[in-house]
Amino acid sequence: MSQKLLIAAGLLALAAPFAAQSQGNPEAARDKISMCVGCHEIPGYKTAFPVVYSVPMIYGQSAKYLEAALQAYRKGDRSHPSMRAIAGSLTDQDIADLAAYYGTN
Ligand code: HEC
Repeated sequence: MSQKLLIAAGLLALAAPFAAQSQGNPEAARDKISMCVGCHEIPGYKTAFPVVYSVPMIYGQSAKYLEAALQAYRKGDRSHPSMRAIAGSLTDQDIADLAAYYGTN
């Protein structure tokens, strides 16, 4: 194999994992996370509504899991009132962006 081909093959191998990622854009999430940080980025934080409730860590969970969870709150399959209200205001693109920002692939 010529050296050029080897380099091309190497670049393809590097590019493949990026191509496989979801459509979410973590950069685009930066102006959306202000809605989330108040609850989700305070270690040990508990919400007082509707009952004292520990807020789960979302940072570093799988992006697919976070996306599915947000869709479930929006559809009403998950019932936490504040998360349902927040997810209800998000578009599919918002959810994908937020999942890409908080999640790992
Ligand atoms: C008012 C406080 C509050 C805000 C603001 C908030 N969350 Fe939540 N979130 C919670 C609580 C409490 C839970 C746990 C609810 C439950 O058990 O269903 C939760 C659960 C979640 C889950 C499911 C986590 C899991 O481990 O299953 C995801 C994903 C999530 N939030 C994402 C977000 C995102 C993204 C935002 C910003 C758009 C946001 N949240 C804003 C309080 C909040």
